[in-house]
Amino acid sequence: MWGKRFDLIITLLLLLVLTTTALSGLLADYLGIPRSLYHRLSAYCLVALVVSHIILKRHQLWLRLKGATGLRSKPAVRPEHAEGKPGAPARVPSLSRRSLLISGTAAVAAFFLGRWLPLERSPSELEGADLGSVYHQWSKPGLWGMIRKPFYWGKRPPLYKDYAAAQRIALPRDFRYRGLFVEEAIERRRSIRDYSGKPLTLEQLSLLLHSAYGITEPSHPLRASPSAGALYPLEIYPIVNVVSGLARGVYHYRPRDHSLDLIKEGDFRSSLLTGTGGQDMVLQASVVLVIAAIFQRTRWKYQERAYRYVLLEAGHLGENLYLAATSLGLGPCGIGAFFDDEINRLVGVDGKDEAAVYLVSIGRVS
Ligand SMILES: Cc1cc2nc3c(=O)[nH]c(=O)nc-3n(C[C@H](O)[C@H](O)[C@H](O)COP(=O)(O)O)c2cc1C
Repeated sequence: MWGKRFDLIITLLLLLVLTTTALSGLLADYLGIPRSLYHRLSAYCLVALVVSHIILKRHQLWLRLKGATGLRSKPAVRPEHAEGKPGAPARVPSLSRRSLLISGTAAVAAFFLGRWLPLERSPSELEGADLGSVYHQWSKPGLWGMIRKPFYWGKRPPLYKDYAAAQRIALPRDFRYRGLFVEEAIERRRSIRDYSGKPLTLEQLSLLLHSAYGITEPSHPLRASPSAGALYPLEIYPIVNVVSGLARGVYHYRPRDHSLDLIKEGDFRSSLLTGTGGQDMVLQASVVLVIAAIFQRTRWKYQERAYRYVLLEAGHLGENLYLAATSLGLGPCGIGAFFDDEINRLVGVDGKDEAAVYLVSIGRVS
């Protein structure tokens, strides 16, 4: 009795999960979601139920298979089911031609439906399309957007990045320099690509970094550039060429204590030159600041809007650098044209979880 009820429950669950797997698969296909958590969970449940069903029905299944393949070496003798005389062979349930025909037709129909129904945007359709525009549409807020996107976007990563083993260099904390009025700096700001090659002072580099992403409100702590949700996804890697008091090399800026960590020492101008496709201002620049983003810092909260925010924030930071450099009488130039892999490798980030998004070269003009 209990066995039969259990059987029935498994069969009903099987039908239910089968339906949700099919529906979630169709929905994921329709929305162009390459990985759907709901579909995956549903599929795992389905596998578990199919296995349970097979175990429970193994005897009937075996008899049916034998019936279908004609393997009747040992006829099953079950007097209670025997037709006619006691001891006559039991009727072995077999797959009928009709059921085989129906299943076959359904499988073929499902295959062709899946192939030809215009549910999925095929890769060839996306090829050559402007993915930026696809992303822009996809990341629009709205009720439909809320329903169709995943609810959980991963954990919040730490706010600060640490290079525990690196040599640490404290930066001067005297931020009293008063240069141009902001209106004047805006008027005078230009992208400058010709530098004298003379060194920057450590004070100037310190002021540039503070103006870009330094902590300006320690109680919260808030920084010089605005950031959506004060999540601060950006990291700055100064590649130092000539700055008095600093060895040439790749550094990482630590806003927490306004200091630099030396990641690797050396002259990396040739890597910068190839990484920027031969933009030779990087050879004479005193420093090239690589601005990278740890996307997850913004993504866990702002989800599909995160990529927009991160790039907007890099723009804010870049403009702060432009204005601070102009105010200091230095020449800045934003660099958006660079080979991602080369620059990511240069600063030691993986290009996925953290990637370079913008470069700014800064040098002395006289
Ligand atoms: C996002 C962005 C990317 C840029 N990329 C480069 C670049 O790769 N190389 C370059 O020489 N200038 C680059 N520039 C600087 C522009 O060429 C410059 O801003 C433009 O010519 C206007 O000149 P101005 O900045 O002096 O007003 C970039 C500017 C921005 C905002």
